[in-house]
Amino acid sequence: MTKDGDAVALNWAKKNWHRVVVHGVCIATLFILAYYYLFAQLATPIRFVMLRTGTIGLILLVASFACTPAARILHWQGAIQIRRALGLYGFLFTAIHLFAYAWGDNEFDVELILRDLDERRAMLIGTIGFALLIPLALTSTRGWQRRLGRRWKILHRLVYLALPLAVLHYLLLDRDFIQLPLVFGAVVAILFLLRITRRLNLSMRDRTPKILAFLLQFLLVQH
Ligand code: HEM
Repeated sequence: MTKDGDAVALNWAKKNWHRVVVHGVCIATLFILAYYYLFAQLATPIRFVMLRTGTIGLILLVASFACTPAARILHWQGAIQIRRALGLYGFLFTAIHLFAYAWGDNEFDVELILRDLDERRAMLIGTIGFALLIPLALTSTRGWQRRLGRRWKILHRLVYLALPLAVLHYLLLDRDFIQLPLVFGAVVAILFLLRITRRLNLSMRDRTPKILAFLLQFLLVQH
């Protein structure tokens, strides 16, 4: 590469370091999981992949959900620029999680899977959560955003359902320790609170001049 080319590439990397970090970490994680699956001589490699992709997928989905409040609190627009990539990687890891479950635990036997969904609430809840993520992933491109207009925003509110369901899925697994799912639950609850308080603040700010004008008019009429 020429010196000019180097400088352009360096400038781009400096401006987009957050994108580079997200893609770099997620792709490296996929390679590490593939390495463990193929070469680490684990007793049950597919179960290892299933469990790790579940946790990593959830972390990425929560991270994507955290981007909007983070951008506001930290005054950093970069968080908005990585929101979609984090969400899509989250979806990819949970899709691998589901694939590993269908393959490793059930050998793609549909009857077995349906029976499991019927018997274990956690599995049914996880499936609903994952199903809600599918339209979000499919319409995540700018083209779909433009095509759907206002409806895109409404559709993407499905994440408000999908994320709590994913945490509930984790919480309801038959485990002795529930500290980690509770931590995820607390983080998601805080993120919801941040969004709700922001909405309330905005709507109060919109209404305050109208309320003041009404009060002023009322007082003037009384006099
Ligand atoms: C939004 C989608 C989902 C997310 C974020 C998610 C996340 C997780 C997490 C964090 C764990 C715990 C991993 C660990 O302990 O290391 C887990 C476990 C598990 N998940 Fe999911 N999951 C999702 C959907 C599903 C679906 C659709 C299924 C299958 C129908 C499924 C099946 C399982 C199974 C079998 C386990 C292990 C249970 C055990 O301990 O034996 N998950 N998942």
